[in-house]
Amino acid sequence: MTKNFWLKLKARRQPILALAPLAGFTDSAFRQICRSFGADVLYSEMASATALYYNQKTKKNATLELLKSSRLKEKYYVVQLFGSNPEHFAMATQIITKKLKPDGIDINFGCPVPKIIKQGAGSGLMKNLKQSRAVIEAVLANTNLPVSIKIRAAAGEVGALKFIKNIAGLPIAALMIHARTLKQGFAGAPDWALVKEARQYFSGVILANGGINNLVEAKKALSETKADGLGLARGVLGRPWLFKEIKANRLINLKPKQIYAIALRHAALTQKLKGKTGIIELRKHLVWYVQGLSGASQLRAALVKVNNLKDIKNIFSSI
Ligand SMILES: Cc1cc2nc3c(=O)[nH]c(=O)nc-3n(C[C@H](O)[C@H](O)[C@H](O)COP(=O)(O)O)c2cc1C
Repeated sequence: MTKNFWLKLKARRQPILALAPLAGFTDSAFRQICRSFGADVLYSEMASATALYYNQKTKKNATLELLKSSRLKEKYYVVQLFGSNPEHFAMATQIITKKLKPDGIDINFGCPVPKIIKQGAGSGLMKNLKQSRAVIEAVLANTNLPVSIKIRAAAGEVGALKFIKNIAGLPIAALMIHARTLKQGFAGAPDWALVKEARQYFSGVILANGGINNLVEAKKALSETKADGLGLARGVLGRPWLFKEIKANRLINLKPKQIYAIALRHAALTQKLKGKTGIIELRKHLVWYVQGLSGASQLRAALVKVNNLKDIKNIFSSI
């Protein structure tokens, strides 16, 4: 294995703060913004191992384009794969390792989208212990990068502990547990006691994830789970400075003007990296930035129509 950055982070003896994968949100621009506020690990959006397998000879591979990163500005960068076929994972892992050179590779065992589960991927893969182990073995055998996994508290009959016991002996560097069951989906209380118990069966880095939206919730998750760190997801949408709040252990109260400046920096980076399509995709981020501000509903109505950086600047400067 090449340098295991997870161990390096663990050795600092401070909570490891990761930007959890969010399809449609955690692109290179947002990852860089989160890093600027102190995120230690940055997950990509999930990418299909099967698409990488079938398009391996395509010159301009759309999946690879989507996963490109700016190495120096996205340290440490982890590419997440989803799928169900070990052969596809093996090839996808080789391609990612060689062409993208990220710092790590992660496997998705938590996605609840019915279309994904139907393919036996995401939470559908977590339900199948034998296949899950085969997929992890295929990834481990085809890269020298540290391999991590992201699971749920449970998927059907398979609970997190049962899942972890089934992969005993495999050199998995890190485990992020979304401490809600598949049945809970994205709402409801995370089971922090379960994350704490996972430590008995897994010796790598453990990250707790689910419902951490502010400093108080972050502290509660760390103290109740004794995890090595946290995976932050929707809690940092429109509030990437939550990373800094947790690191510094103090609230940061930004004025609307300061929030607009962050949103504009995010927008400028998006325009640079993705052009016009990037700005269209950014609309949903912009809506998060203004959530809770006075006049948010009018701002939202304007921001969902922006087409370029100038439109965004005009809206913010008119307030
Ligand atoms: C819009 C959206 C996209 C997501 N995309 C992914 C993904 O690509 N891979 C993954 O493992 N989890 C994905 N998740 C799950 C999150 O990483 C996280 O586990 C979940 O949102 C719970 O954390 P939170 O309550 O802090 O948001 C996604 C969640 C949302 C809401």
